[in-house]
Amino acid sequence: MAKPLLQFICQSCGSIFPRWQGQCSACGEWNSLTEEVGITPLKKAVQSKVKAVPITNVTPLPEETLSSGYSEVDRLLGRGFVKGSVTLLGGEPGIGKSTLSLQVAQKIAERHKVLYVSSEESVHQLVLRSQRTGLNNENLLVLNETNMLGIIECIRQEKPDFIILDSIQVVAHPEMPSTAGSVNQVRHCAQELINEVKRSNAVGVLIGHITKEGGIAGPKVLEHLVDLILYFEGERNQKYRLLRCFKNRYFNTQEIGIFEMGEGGLKEVLQPNEIFIDAASLSHPGAMVSAVVEGSRAFLVEIQSLAVSSGYGMAKRTFLGVDANRSNLLITAMEKRLDMALMSKDIIINIVGGLKISEPALDLAIVLAIISSVRDIPIGKKIAVFGEVGLTGEVRPVPNAEKRVQELAKMGFEGCILPTKNRLNYTLDGFKLIYVSHITEAIAAFLNQAKS
Ligand code: TYD
Ligand code: MG
Repeated sequence: MAKPLLQFICQSCGSIFPRWQGQCSACGEWNSLTEEVGITPLKKAVQSKVKAVPITNVTPLPEETLSSGYSEVDRLLGRGFVKGSVTLLGGEPGIGKSTLSLQVAQKIAERHKVLYVSSEESVHQLVLRSQRTGLNNENLLVLNETNMLGIIECIRQEKPDFIILDSIQVVAHPEMPSTAGSVNQVRHCAQELINEVKRSNAVGVLIGHITKEGGIAGPKVLEHLVDLILYFEGERNQKYRLLRCFKNRYFNTQEIGIFEMGEGGLKEVLQPNEIFIDAASLSHPGAMVSAVVEGSRAFLVEIQSLAVSSGYGMAKRTFLGVDANRSNLLITAMEKRLDMALMSKDIIINIVGGLKISEPALDLAIVLAIISSVRDIPIGKKIAVFGEVGLTGEVRPVPNAEKRVQELAKMGFEGCILPTKNRLNYTLDGFKLIYVSHITEAIAAFLNQAKS
């Protein structure tokens, strides 16, 4: 019997220390060490012969995939869920992780055996939800259990092809003395499930909550254990949700999945084109449209800015959906290069629809949205803009310029301000291409177009 061992484990990164200390020396987090009883590792003799093989003697196994039933999810995964893989699905509480997983489970159950382990909600709650989201059949098994041993036992008995564990933070392994959700438990339970999934060549999905800092609650090691990491994001009070992939051991995809939450659960948005644009607000100062490219698709987004004289003290900056560091950098560059007194202004920047986009191609739209608000001049649905902005105010080229232009022309814009270095070798009928290489030129073009 292994002797229990007192350890201090960082709840942020999972590092283990023999003594308590105020700051984790591995990740720098303060007050994150808690006492947990670990197990002393047994010194095991190597039982079987260890032998390495030349790489040339190894043939790759064909990757069998299982379609999720949703093209928005499959595109993000590459082709679908690879057999023997485990995916971590993270997101804020209430964003729709359980709804998405249940819908995928219902689709997969049309052809395969699925086990949905609902450790947070009762099976009755799950059934109520399933009646809103899709069709059920007897291939979809549900289990309400928080004991990891029970879950593994059920997997061994039922041999499902697809397993969902909702969520990893509430299950506990009875052999571990710590409580559910602690680093030891999360790591141990995840490892148990991963072993089981690999052994049976099934597909596993672990659902995990994220902390207020945006990381998956539990140790960072969880992120290393799984094969894929997906994040479900959006604003709870808005209807659109984005599924992003942060790690994929099988396929390299830059795609995103877009869904709309409604009465009957989540619906795929196959053609996002203009869904993030608010036609009514576009006629007001401070609104600016840009084109974003995520994976193989381009779609339009609306940046809104409000710049007002601040009261006493420090000017406030609020950034919603845009990268805060980049936005601060742009404001500073504007102050210096355009000689604008933005220090005395409170500035709010927001992306309509609860979107979070960190593409540098949005830089120029942020700059012009601020100008539009400061000068009180609207641009309407006439001209959109994209381009990266550097510290000297130079406008830099961005990838996929042609795709962005095509999308804007298709959606009825009159023209677009874009980087000179992205010059296309053709012109478009009825669509102005205004090339700029510095923010001063971009602002002149914007004022010119707004007037006309
Ligand atoms: P849920 O999947 O429970 O979120 P999570 O598992 O990430 O915590 O989603 C809950 C939200 O989704 C809740 O606010 C209600 C909403 N919802 C709908 O709007 N329509 C529906 O058909 C369903 C099932 C949920
Ligand atoms: Mg849930």
